[in-house]
Amino acid sequence: MTAGTVQTQNMTGALPLAEDGVPIKMQAQKVNVHYGEKQALYGVDLDVRKNNVTALIGPSGCGKSTFLRCLNRMNDTIDICRVGGNILLDNEDIYDQRIDVVELRARVGMVFQKPNPFPKSIFENVAYGPRIHGLAQSKAELDEIVATSLQKAGLFEEVKDRLDEPGTGLSGGQQQRLCIARAIAVSPEVILMDEPCSALDPIATAKVEELIDELRENYTIVIVTHSMQQAARVSQRTAFFHLGYLVEEGKTNDIFTNPKDQRTQDYITGRFG
Ligand SMILES: Nc1ncnc2c1ncn2[C@@H]1O[C@H](COP(=O)(O)OP(=O)(O)O)[C@@H](O)[C@H]1O
Ligand SMILES: [Mg+2]
Repeated sequence: MTAGTVQTQNMTGALPLAEDGVPIKMQAQKVNVHYGEKQALYGVDLDVRKNNVTALIGPSGCGKSTFLRCLNRMNDTIDICRVGGNILLDNEDIYDQRIDVVELRARVGMVFQKPNPFPKSIFENVAYGPRIHGLAQSKAELDEIVATSLQKAGLFEEVKDRLDEPGTGLSGGQQQRLCIARAIAVSPEVILMDEPCSALDPIATAKVEELIDELRENYTIVIVTHSMQQAARVSQRTAFFHLGYLVEEGKTNDIFTNPKDQRTQDYITGRFG
């Protein structure tokens, strides 16, 4: 690598492997987070497996969103927030000073709790990212990226005849799929989702959950959810957070049927949270 350049290619061959042989896309090592004097995360270690959905669960206030935001440096936008430890993406430290944060957030996209389309047309919502990242050489190419992204987000059929109408005019579930299309449009490798269904009705939730399962084929997904049912439905791996500690992580089925830690047991049986 020449000085000043940052390696951004995804070299799957070089990724470390988890004990079950699955490549590790992101690694958190001894991550501590403080907001001012207050510590929110304590020494969190987590391997995020490639093409898996990893669910982060735990009671409110235990640090799930804080941890998720570490994975694409969204905490940088919070003045009093300090992040310690290492976070690797394809084996490369995302907090390295050579990392371009805008580019990082294209590689590690984010979908928020409340659908937040821009006050622009459906088309522009999806076209914005590819345009600022220079991903399309022509209008035809941009049209193609928008259409493909909407298709991957399971929204194209519903909106193809009204791409010039405002994104904010869609239903809540459609808006959330539009936000997923917007994230997909810049070809991310990882998609972070913070309780993406909590503002949606059950039918819209089911659609987004189905979509998450399909997206796993091409992306690595980390999702915060307060719903254990949702974690069980959409994820292969589950990490349980409690009071700023990652208590345990494992196969989703094992976490829900045979947790190792008493705190996990108490949470999944509804004793607190
Ligand atoms: N922007 C912030 N400023 C100060 N404290 C925060 C901020 N965001 C979160 N916290 C604190 O960090 C802890 C973890 O919060 P959070 O990560 O939002 O938990 P969760 O997503 O599990 O509900 C809480 O004590 C919360 O009050
Ligand atoms: Mg949260």
